[in-house]
Amino acid sequence: MNRGNNEFFNIIKPIINNCEFDKLKDIRHHGITRYDHCMRVAYYSYIVTKFFRLNYKDTTEAALLHDFFTDEVVEENFIKRLTNHPNIAFLNASKYFKLNKMQEDIIKTHMFPITLTPPKYLESWIVDIVDDIAAVYEKVFSVRKELSAATTFLFLLLINYMR
Ligand SMILES: [Fe+2]
Ligand SMILES: [Fe+2]
Repeated sequence: MNRGNNEFFNIIKPIINNCEFDKLKDIRHHGITRYDHCMRVAYYSYIVTKFFRLNYKDTTEAALLHDFFTDEVVEENFIKRLTNHPNIAFLNASKYFKLNKMQEDIIKTHMFPITLTPPKYLESWIVDIVDDIAAVYEKVFSVRKELSAATTFLFLLLINYMR
């Protein structure tokens, strides 16, 4: 993520300054924090929608808010969690920010096809796809990190055993 991108940071500033949103920094999500995952999805959604001259400002805000939920408010059941959290994120986001119809659609349909209603806007499709790619990347990266930690541990154990 390019930290020097002033336009991107000006768009997201009101959201990242919100205390409730800041709590996502303490929640694990795909092996990183939910805050970092939302930032990644927002940044790449910003890049892609700006490139295609779409409504990139509203898209960036909604992409940042797409997983705005804390673990206390979602079901324990994994499947229900996957299907319910977009609505919870939308309700949560609309408590603190004024969202338009397109932003509502972006947040509520970001799990399509797991949730059955397809996105209505091109911007929503883009956030859905960016989110999927980010999730796969983050999961693979975190498995690799865990594997290399496990390998290091086994290696140290082996050295200790051979001494
Ligand atoms: Fe999500
Ligand atoms: Fe996500």
